[in-house]
Amino acid sequence: MSALFPLELAAVSFRPNGQEVLRGVDLSLGGEGITVVLGPNGAGKSVLLRMLCGLLQPTGGTLRWGSAPGPGREVAMVFQHPMMLRDTVLANVGLGLKAHGVSRQDRVARGHAMLARIGLTDRAGQSARQLSGGERQRLALGRAWLTRPRLLLLDEPTASLDPSGVEAVERIIREIRTDGTKVVMTTHNLGQATRLADDVVFLADGAVREHAPVQRFFARPVSPEARLFIKGELPWHVGF
Ligand SMILES: Nc1ncnc2c1ncn2[C@@H]1O[C@H](COP(=O)(O)OP(=O)(O)OP(=O)(O)O)[C@@H](O)[C@H]1O
Ligand SMILES: [Mg+2]
Repeated sequence: MSALFPLELAAVSFRPNGQEVLRGVDLSLGGEGITVVLGPNGAGKSVLLRMLCGLLQPTGGTLRWGSAPGPGREVAMVFQHPMMLRDTVLANVGLGLKAHGVSRQDRVARGHAMLARIGLTDRAGQSARQLSGGERQRLALGRAWLTRPRLLLLDEPTASLDPSGVEAVERIIREIRTDGTKVVMTTHNLGQATRLADDVVFLADGAVREHAPVQRFFARPVSPEARLFIKGELPWHVGF
């Protein structure tokens, strides 16, 4: 197993300016499978993902990536609105490799192979900025996947995609997992959580209320907050 795991959070808090965004988060994540982070708007899911890739530091507690000193290059993150350079689809899919010092010739070869895997072969020479939302998301996943991260963080990878776009992205996420990458992702789509997750972390009000295997989480949620959330009846933080 990679030195990155287990990811260990102990009493992690995030209070950037007095506002308590995360509090007392204890969490241990192994290097296998797909962990889905669920919770209402404002629960702290995106903040948690940003911490796991080192973009935000806890203001209290400790966060450890196995025996590694920090997240390093084995951790990649894909945001909800992935950045596309004003360049071709092929150039954009190879961007991460460029940062890893891979030669142009190799980037082209590996980029084409990846475009085939994500169904964008016939778009290789087009401007990436002309892609639809679903195509951009596939491109961003392929770009991250090409760098072979041990840990891939995905923040709402299918928000605003239509059903066939969702299905295409879910298929790619499954393949990335089968390839040996640990995935930690957020979603508001509970069907997606049941289709993809091995385990579920349920956050509410900045705290982890539950961390359980997916079937157990949906069949027998332990915390009252999770029960209400699954029923769609969470009474707080609806985002107004
Ligand atoms: N960098 C930051 N500095 C300070 N506060 C932040 C920062 N990022 C987010 N917050 C605050 O932390 C809280 C949790 O935000 P976060 O984006 O993690 O929620 P979320 O669970 O991802 O919600 P959603 O489901 O709407 O995406 C919010 O109140 C937000 O304003
Ligand atoms: Mg979020």
